[in-house]
Amino acid sequence: MKKILVLHGPNLNLLGSREQAVYGKATLEDINLGLKAAAKKLKVRLQIEQSNHEGEIVDLIGKARKGFDGILINPAAYTHTSIAIRDALLAVDLPAVEVHLSNIYKREDFRHKSLSAAACSGQVAGFGVESYLLGLTGLAGILKSKKPAA
Ligand code: DQA
Repeated sequence: MKKILVLHGPNLNLLGSREQAVYGKATLEDINLGLKAAAKKLKVRLQIEQSNHEGEIVDLIGKARKGFDGILINPAAYTHTSIAIRDALLAVDLPAVEVHLSNIYKREDFRHKSLSAAACSGQVAGFGVESYLLGLTGLAGILKSKKPAA
């Protein structure tokens, strides 16, 4: 079974109470439960991590080369600032999908640029919790269509 590393970036541990008008009422636990249910249907395995620290996210991506087939990531604020996370995604060269709860292109100018998206196969933004589920479905599809190494 294909194994996917799910990475939640900074402040996503505060979902549920954090800026509800922007991010909705779902907690991170609600999102993770939804992801686990979807993973069962898609027949993929998940390991889910959240970190508020850039270096820790870089470490988790770097280690994913061994044991994971793909990465689903919401880099949160680091989306807009972190060359290190972009470089880590490029370095491991695993299929990755970037997701955002909010439509970052409809918000402040500084959120319009994603440094990490160009290191990913695709990006989903603006669908709330559904962004994660759409991203997971897309990533699982990419992994299924990939031929096993000869
Ligand atoms: C976010 C969007 C980012 O701009 C912001 O810094 C976040 C959450 C989202 O999921 O909409 O923390 O990644």
